[in-house]
Amino acid sequence: MKAQDLVMPYFVVHGKGLKKPILSMPGSYRFSVDQLVFEVRQASKLGIKSILLFGIPKKKDLLGSEAYAEDGIVSRAIRAVKKALPKLQVIADVCLCEYTSHGHCGVIKSPNKAEINLPKTLELYAAEAVVYARAGADIVAPSGMMKGQVAAIREALNINGFKKVKIMGYSAKYASAFYGPFRDAADSAPAFGDRTGYQMNPASGYKEVLKEVAADIKEGADIVMVKPALAYLDVIREVKRKFNKPLAAYNVSGEYAMLKAAAAKGWIDEAKITVEIINAIRRAGADIIITYQAKEVAKIINARK
Ligand code: PBG
Repeated sequence: MKAQDLVMPYFVVHGKGLKKPILSMPGSYRFSVDQLVFEVRQASKLGIKSILLFGIPKKKDLLGSEAYAEDGIVSRAIRAVKKALPKLQVIADVCLCEYTSHGHCGVIKSPNKAEINLPKTLELYAAEAVVYARAGADIVAPSGMMKGQVAAIREALNINGFKKVKIMGYSAKYASAFYGPFRDAADSAPAFGDRTGYQMNPASGYKEVLKEVAADIKEGADIVMVKPALAYLDVIREVKRKFNKPLAAYNVSGEYAMLKAAAAKGWIDEAKITVEIINAIRRAGADIIITYQAKEVAKIINARK
């Protein structure tokens, strides 16, 4: 494993001088843009070459309008980070759940029902991706698991002159309880219903996952992803064997929280377990690992040199 294969996710908030702890993710924070730049500089000194951005908007509304606003929080963050560190690879998560008042990943058809208006959702994802590309994102990462999202985004990027901006598809994203702490961090838990209408059934077999990944690749994904990682190592392996595309694995918030909670109690050796986890995800076949422990892992790697 090399530090350059790690991706560090960040949560960005409006304001100045902010570094707010996320309770269910000890050691993780919500940063204001100025603090984010400081933080990313530190990460980059450790050898981290990629970051993944999530935003918490000033105001949430029915259509998640800050997601695709030119001066939305993630666009601001991209511009600031790119100005400070032009070579750093910036990946922007494309979804609406952090921005909608109901917490769903798309536009809903009627109040209090988790039924998604797909055409409208795809239109907003495309607008969001173009806004992030214009701000300077190198990669956009649609995480909503909506049918046709990669194609819609690819087309919009091309039309707007962003052929070079890549797409990392959250191709195999399960409706997992391991995302709990993230929803705290992004304040994005669905107000009603759940995400089983668009995310994959955690109990589903390989046939379904291979279909999802194949569809993303056909639609133009440059990188595919399996998420979460640890309970799905077999899926990572299967996807790696069947497809010849760079493969990312997302070691998600709940996986991080379990490790940190046990470590805080003194019940496990955190550093050793961290190495075992990263090695396992790697061995399963991931080329890229998205982890909230990216800095810690980079430090361990650097200490070995
Ligand atoms: C947004 C999104 C989620 C995560 C990444 N992008 C939350 C969700 O789908 O509920 C989860 C990441 C994590 O748990 O670390 N759609």
